[in-house]
Amino acid sequence: MKVSQAILPVAGLGTRFLPWTKVVPKELLPIGNQPIIAHLVDECIDAGITDICFVISKGKELIPQYFFEDPALEEELEKRGKKHYLEDLQRYKSINFHTVYQDEQLGDGHAILQAADWVDSETIAILFGDDLFACDDSGLKQLVKAYDMMGEEGALLALENVPRENTSRYGVVDVDTENDGDPRLKKLKGMVEKPQPEDAPSTLGIVGRYLIPKSTFDVLPKVGTSHGSEIRLIDALIEQMPELPVYGYECKGTRIDTGTPEGYREAVKVWNG
Ligand code: UTP
Repeated sequence: MKVSQAILPVAGLGTRFLPWTKVVPKELLPIGNQPIIAHLVDECIDAGITDICFVISKGKELIPQYFFEDPALEEELEKRGKKHYLEDLQRYKSINFHTVYQDEQLGDGHAILQAADWVDSETIAILFGDDLFACDDSGLKQLVKAYDMMGEEGALLALENVPRENTSRYGVVDVDTENDGDPRLKKLKGMVEKPQPEDAPSTLGIVGRYLIPKSTFDVLPKVGTSHGSEIRLIDALIEQMPELPVYGYECKGTRIDTGTPEGYREAVKVWNG
């Protein structure tokens, strides 16, 4: 299956990185020699994505700007014979970038919903900025490959086996069956958001990458009221489960959580090997 559109919600307040995030979005913090967001865009390019929509909030315009073409700069680099830098900038030319705003931080599902009018394919990739995967095959590429093993259309979520004491930080899945060919692929019969360890149906947590059907955009507006004012993607998928096959894929490699200062410090270490 070919997925061409990806939504990258990066509108969050980034409170855990304050006061830094008063002036610089956390997605522009560096890991290796590029910002976190560029790792996500590379992951999209590697998985065959051609259209990327950033969901940003006011003040985070530097994120899309990082990927904008800069003809004057390119001309100058050309003149100065800085071919390597030029090529580096030009690799984004193959991507159509689009930006939408989320005016209020009303949850990850609400962020995605802001891109509803932009969506025009049947299956859409969602990448949350806090999780990176250090692996030969990126998280998204693993999902795209696993989708073909499902044998039916549906939703597919990236999973990680997490310590039971940490289940309350994740959406946790209830597994129905494992795929015969690749037991990492699991058909799900339920999902619970942030369960206490004793209530968690498994230790498989949902981590930062999703392939969702277009139909989820019809369900998202209806799930807001059940959990205060937040609209959460997991609630829309739970709502869809009776009709929609939902699968999880236990991704290979190391997941790097860049969403907290401690996680970020660890991420820099892991990335630098
Ligand atoms: P987080 O829950 O980590 O929120 O969102 P955050 O704002 O980034 O960070 P903290 O909790 O204030 O420190 C996970 C992802 O979902 C996006 C965030 O930008 C991040 O990529 N998000 C979350 C939105 O785009 N909008 C929202 O309303 C909530």
